[in-house]
Amino acid sequence: MTSVPVDAAVRVRPAPRLRGQLRLPGDKSISHRALLLALLAEGESRIAGAGDGRDVRATAGVVAALGATVERCGDDPRAIDYIVISPGRSGLREPSGILACENSGTTFRLTAGILAGLPGFAVLDGDASLRGRPMGRVAAPLAAMGATVAGRAGATLPPLAITGRSPLAAIDHATPVPSAQVKSAILLAGLAAAGTTTVREAVATRDHTERMLRACGVPVRTERLPGGGAVHAVDGVAAVRPLDQRIPGDVSGAAFWLVAGAAHPDAELTLHDVGTNPTRRAIIDLLRRMGAEINERPVGAAGDEESGEPLADLVVRSSALRGIDVTADEVAAAIDEIPVLCLAAAVASGRTRILGVGELRHKESDRVAGIAAGLSAMGARVVVDGDTIEIDGGRPLTGAAVETHDDHRLAMTFAVAGLMARGETLVRDPGSADVSYPGFFGELERVRA
Ligand code: S3P
Repeated sequence: MTSVPVDAAVRVRPAPRLRGQLRLPGDKSISHRALLLALLAEGESRIAGAGDGRDVRATAGVVAALGATVERCGDDPRAIDYIVISPGRSGLREPSGILACENSGTTFRLTAGILAGLPGFAVLDGDASLRGRPMGRVAAPLAAMGATVAGRAGATLPPLAITGRSPLAAIDHATPVPSAQVKSAILLAGLAAAGTTTVREAVATRDHTERMLRACGVPVRTERLPGGGAVHAVDGVAAVRPLDQRIPGDVSGAAFWLVAGAAHPDAELTLHDVGTNPTRRAIIDLLRRMGAEINERPVGAAGDEESGEPLADLVVRSSALRGIDVTADEVAAAIDEIPVLCLAAAVASGRTRILGVGELRHKESDRVAGIAAGLSAMGARVVVDGDTIEIDGGRPLTGAAVETHDDHRLAMTFAVAGLMARGETLVRDPGSADVSYPGFFGELERVRA
């Protein structure tokens, strides 16, 4: 009972039992931010346990291209250490070539925020998927701050050419959709702006940038609003101190094992040192609401209490899952985990309704279409009505050939589905898993008891 690579596809056969102890790759979102703040800080920063997926590597490449020395240590793809020595913002150089963000929206948008405040010319570009993703949501506020931003389709699609300015003008910006990338881009630009830059969010998004800036001596002020929104403010021009950051295990990677463990009829999986930041842990709480038995043991924090990231060991066991209603705000809080949550819904008894999934169409692929097509091919009943996904769970899943559209989260979701489907599942183009979770398919084999 193994998963066998076949050309550009992996065959996943059902697993009779799942058992194992897993360490996740370093959190992708936090790894990107650590590298980019190390670029802004004059001196030596240390980053321990970064994920070594293609996205984070792209950020490391951008950091080097802008003038920092980036030293990688270690060979465990789940946990790479970096030493970054930077001349600091004022010593950064105009890159001689295009900054290659590959598949990574976070690299693209957060770097855009930094480039806006660097006098000089730079071009950000990415792969075919990234070239189709909306960038007007960062280009417009950065232009309002005084950067010159040009790009395809009226500076709404990559590549984007940015000519930065120092100092920028501070703005007060309400994000049009909940987006930690947009919030972070504006806050990073705000470091180079004269005065107070404010970002208003209708739904609070992941707060890693704010936490890490505080740890680097920049007092970002956050006010939580009744109803789930938040307002963040940063005073510029602000210097960033070098950081010494340990990276937690990626809860978005843990989500695949949480669903595998809860949905499989004979499973027990232990996940070590998973980041449980309140703005990232929604998937744990949604699965629990579905009846998942997830035991959580806090094991301290990466960093100090106030600005660090909480960690926990999680144990998940086979559970009787039932369908739930998921609100649009909950979708925003679990945006990267919705594909694998749909798999849990397909296995659960009863109906799951997930509202407000529109943003999923603008990720590495159209994840609404991709998840509906793949799970339907495996026998699930999935109906998409506008921005609502409705899944009638409990039908047995059957192995099928499924398209992943080169999207890492779809590839890993369908691979997990294959563990509990009847017959063989052919996951096409599984290589995208390396974007966030190098070694994922090896772990998939290891957890077959
Ligand atoms: C991320 C924010 C989210 C998420 C992405 C990582 C981040 O994107 O989907 O995988 O690290 O800030 P949006 O900001 O576009 O919602």
